[in-house]
Amino acid sequence: MQKSNILVIEPDEARADNIVWALIFLGYYPQLWNPSLVADSATQDWRAVYVGSLDDRDACRGILESLEQHSKQLLLLVAADSPQATWLTADGSAYSERLELLEFPLRYERLADAMRGLHARLSGGIPGPQRLVGSSQAMARVNALIQQVAPFDSSVLVLGESGTGKEMVARGIHDCSPRRDKPFVAINCGAIPAELLESELFGHEKGSFTGAISARKGRFEMAEGGTLFLDEIGDMSLPMQVKLLRVLQERMYERVGGNRTLRSNVRIIAATHRNLERAIVEGRFREDLYYRLSVFPLEMPSLRQHLEDLPELITEFNQRLLRRGLGGARFSGGAMQALRQYGWPGNVRELSNLVERMAILYPQSEVRASDLPEKYRGAHAGEEVAGGSLLAMLDEHPPTLAGAMLETDMLLPEGGVDLKDHLADIEVGLIRQALDNTDGVVAHAAKLLRMQRTTLVEKLRKYGLQSGAAAH
Ligand SMILES: Nc1ncnc2c1ncn2[C@@H]1O[C@H](COP(=O)(O)OP(=O)(O)O)[C@@H](O)[C@H]1O
Ligand SMILES: [Mg+2]
Repeated sequence: MQKSNILVIEPDEARADNIVWALIFLGYYPQLWNPSLVADSATQDWRAVYVGSLDDRDACRGILESLEQHSKQLLLLVAADSPQATWLTADGSAYSERLELLEFPLRYERLADAMRGLHARLSGGIPGPQRLVGSSQAMARVNALIQQVAPFDSSVLVLGESGTGKEMVARGIHDCSPRRDKPFVAINCGAIPAELLESELFGHEKGSFTGAISARKGRFEMAEGGTLFLDEIGDMSLPMQVKLLRVLQERMYERVGGNRTLRSNVRIIAATHRNLERAIVEGRFREDLYYRLSVFPLEMPSLRQHLEDLPELITEFNQRLLRRGLGGARFSGGAMQALRQYGWPGNVRELSNLVERMAILYPQSEVRASDLPEKYRGAHAGEEVAGGSLLAMLDEHPPTLAGAMLETDMLLPEGGVDLKDHLADIEVGLIRQALDNTDGVVAHAAKLLRMQRTTLVEKLRKYGLQSGAAAH
């Protein structure tokens, strides 16, 4: 069984009950203190200690000191009216920087706040192998939160659009937690039909329903001792939400068709792309389950909010391709500019798919803006000079100068370049822009490109660009 990680020192029975159940509700594993426990505790690494109505200051100090011999960075929750609160919080006290005060009667929100405060004080969990790539502030924050929340058993709710890395966060938390040698089990609650979800989660006994040919373990059992990732929790049916809440609160369940009660010790991480607060208002999500899950909410930024990470992410995906024995994709300056202006509704997953697709289509050459699938191109097809429209420059400078700029701006790729194709790319890009700028009126576009209208018509036909031209 998982060792408890919060020690509750509270001689007042009613209060002890109150704080223990509140902590359990939040997903922690508290243990009530008794004198024999202190002897045992010599070998235990406590994360936090709750100090309640203890009268004897020396005894309190003695307990804390003995615990500290084996617990690094002991954090304290202290009842604000505890006789010990004054010296613990006093300036110069060894504990004053790492405690949270709790007022009674205890309010759920305050306790959750206090726990977040303690998490934030942890200087870091066990360093995990998988960090989310990106050095933007947004990603640094996510990585820091993963480290803070990992060491405790509290539930985490990961929110964010699809493809933003929610599952990666869940794995990161597990890998940095003391449970990392136990299973990480994921289940997509949205993808499994409501009538099957119960048996998927809790397992079933043989013959419990048509098709249950043999007994089967559920995900809770498979994840025992480890972490259960409930993906798309916002899609779970209301009856199933009730059953889940019961397991989370009582830590007990039965397999479908079974009467043996199983104990469960799993850390829950849930995720959804839905707005659960709205779902609660609309009666589609239970508020109590929401509170139980969202002890530690973690909001993922959309890719639009950390576009500065594009180059690092592309490098990461190229490395993943290399590990699979495939070559990577190289993007030109113009292509990067187009990607920076794209909306990325599918977020990092969409970027990963694009990199793979481009790596397959352009194994040897650089991917230019005009090579990108149409929706990514924006107005950047053929535009290989950073900033400003090439066409505008063409208008202002003699064509030879523009040509020279193009040449100097482009680095010859390692594997060389197919010059004819490359020039055709530039030509197509500039023709597209000319048509865009003239609402597709070929005669006007031809003027911008300093060529005969008939020559342009010829090129439009050659490159299959007629659809971009108006019928003039
Ligand atoms: N910051 C990141 N660094 C590296 N890879 C990422 C990052 N964010 C997302 N990914 C990758 O993007 C894909 C989608 O991530 P996932 O965690 O499944 O998103 P979600 O669960 O939010 O839909 C995965 O291949 C994941 O490895
Ligand atoms: Mg996902």
